[in-house]
Amino acid sequence: MSSSALDIKSFIGGLQDLDRYKKINWEGTLQQYIELVKERPEITRNAFQRLYDCINHFGSEDYVEFKKKITAYNFFKDPIENGKDAVFGIDVHLQKLVNVLKAAAQGYGTEKRVILLHGPVGSAKSTIARMIKKGVEWYSQTDEGSMYTFKFRIENEALAQEILNGQSEFASPMNEEPLKLIPQEYRKKICEEINRGRKDGHRVTIDGDLSPPMQFIFDKLMHHYSGDWTKVVDHVVVTRLLLSERNRIGIGTFQPKDEKNQDSTELTGDINYRKIAEYGSDSDPRAFNFDGEFNVANRGVLEFVEVLKLDVAFLYDLLGASQEHKIKPKKFPQMDIDEVIIGHTNEPEYRKLQNNEFMEALRDRTVKIDIPYCTKLVEEVKIYKKDFNSRKIKASIAPHTLEMASMWAVLTRLEAPKKHNLSLLQKLKLYNGKTLPGFTEDNVRELRKESVREGMEGISPRYIQDKISNALVGTKDGVASSINPFMVLNELESGLRNHSLISSEDKRKHFRELLAVVRQEYEDVVKSEVQRAISADEEAMARLCGNYIDNVKAYTQRERVKNKYTGQDEEPDERLMRSVEEKIDIPDSRKDDFRREIMNYIGALALEGRQFDYKTNERLHKALELKLFEDQKDTIKLTSLVSNVVDANTQAKIDIVKTRLIKNYGYDEVSATDVLNFVASIFARGDVKRK
Ligand SMILES: Nc1ncnc2c1ncn2[C@@H]1O[C@H](COP(=O)(O)OP(=O)(O)O)[C@@H](O)[C@H]1O
Ligand SMILES: [Mg+2]
Repeated sequence: MSSSALDIKSFIGGLQDLDRYKKINWEGTLQQYIELVKERPEITRNAFQRLYDCINHFGSEDYVEFKKKITAYNFFKDPIENGKDAVFGIDVHLQKLVNVLKAAAQGYGTEKRVILLHGPVGSAKSTIARMIKKGVEWYSQTDEGSMYTFKFRIENEALAQEILNGQSEFASPMNEEPLKLIPQEYRKKICEEINRGRKDGHRVTIDGDLSPPMQFIFDKLMHHYSGDWTKVVDHVVVTRLLLSERNRIGIGTFQPKDEKNQDSTELTGDINYRKIAEYGSDSDPRAFNFDGEFNVANRGVLEFVEVLKLDVAFLYDLLGASQEHKIKPKKFPQMDIDEVIIGHTNEPEYRKLQNNEFMEALRDRTVKIDIPYCTKLVEEVKIYKKDFNSRKIKASIAPHTLEMASMWAVLTRLEAPKKHNLSLLQKLKLYNGKTLPGFTEDNVRELRKESVREGMEGISPRYIQDKISNALVGTKDGVASSINPFMVLNELESGLRNHSLISSEDKRKHFRELLAVVRQEYEDVVKSEVQRAISADEEAMARLCGNYIDNVKAYTQRERVKNKYTGQDEEPDERLMRSVEEKIDIPDSRKDDFRREIMNYIGALALEGRQFDYKTNERLHKALELKLFEDQKDTIKLTSLVSNVVDANTQAKIDIVKTRLIKNYGYDEVSATDVLNFVASIFARGDVKRK
């Protein structure tokens, strides 16, 4: 074989994990299973305990926000699929969800409730449910999360004919726990035996009866062996249980179709008519398909999509399932289930139903967990970074594009602050962790508290995602090039005209006004970015600073300054000093204080043998930056970009600035050119407002 040939057997052979295959396909007797249970009692955990442990498996991080301690569970960053479904900015609400699951795992009562995720359209409810389903599936494949079920095996052909209609095996259709084979009267004693001497860790209990078909076969075998249980369990084969949504094992999803069409068999299973012919009776549990969603989800999780659209006739199935952990298939007695039931519903649906009988019945049997939209800008941006910063996207996205779209999204969700002196944008910035003079962390907490429905309304991430996609698709002939904030803001605006979820004209108008707020903010951001790029000339800054300090020193000590060019002693250059100080609003009456402060600062440093660096003095730094910008602006003649006649000298200077934008601010050639042109047009308009 040549060296470049791919040896498929050794290639795959090196990748495969035979040890894992063996573990996953483990089979054993009930006796061997009991030994496993003694060693690791947690393999018998119920569905809530498992889910809670699965979430904790990935750890958590605590942080403090506005004086409140928050626990963020890594699970919700979707470590299982490399962050594909990661959820951002709603840690507090996810923490509530985990606390409910914890209480349920410990048997404090929430295990008897329907867990109801409630929030506006597109607030990640389905995403959270999906992660949970994916989580328990993944966990069941790990060593820590391993779980087991069983089947009956009858090798004797005559007996197999009699009991299994000629089949040699019959697997538990609901993947039930093998310990259920232990008759009620012995359970307490067995559990004591298993738990003996264990101080901590999981305590084994055995809950619930066998499912109808397994009970039926069990009874037949008991009869055959004249009541000798020890012989019956020789027919038991315990197997590892791997949950799988795709294979409909331990994970179910129920989505009500239109109301006329709902059918209880979708929830609790149906008669298999072909098998009735085989077994001869429609009440033979072997002739029943336990394939309703409640059946399928046993041992794992059932997601109830749009749970409030459920037909009232089946509401009691749901309530029984959550409250009693029992369901009732057609023609059979109630049977036990072990599963986490998570429903979700959109806010408008919920409000519509708030006062009807359905809700009456549901009210104290549900734990409602609000899942609002994110109201923190930096977190909202992460949603779109996840979608659009991947390598899949060929078009380049100019700096601030996702940020500006996010800013608008968050603004639409905020309630107007009751304090009159605060704008919506300022509120957004406070929430985002920025400080504003006169606002303490306690004030921000108050702001949050007074805004009860905040995050329950506004624009959804899905709308933003769609419009960013539109902007991307709209790039030249579908050939990816680049998009900038204006393109996206325009998409967002034009979509407002026929946005189905905007209920009133007032709201539409408000959202449009917020777009204007965002455009203004973008202007300010890029203006100051370009200003900084222009003044990022370290040498020129150092020169200006040295010049200013020399003059201030002479001024405060009433001396003259040596002119570096002429060698002559001159009066301190008052015009120069003032042109710097005015940039940070130092009035003439305060200039002496300011200058003395600076000299004291430099003096103190000198005493410690340290050198003065303007970068350590924030105010002076800013003043120098603005002054330098003002000086350079004219020599760089940014505004000549507007008139399209740029001489070579100016072009060279502009190119330096462009290079800085690319190197330090994340621009590329196209977006840097765009932004320079844009800022030039602002300056050409003449409003060089200082920021
Ligand atoms: N807080 C959030 N963090 C991350 N993504 C989010 C968030 N809120 C919404 N999304 C995204 O918005 C889209 C809609 O979410 P989805 O789970 O379908 O919402 P819902 O079921 O609440 O209507 C998804 O692409 C989801 O990733
Ligand atoms: Mg959904």
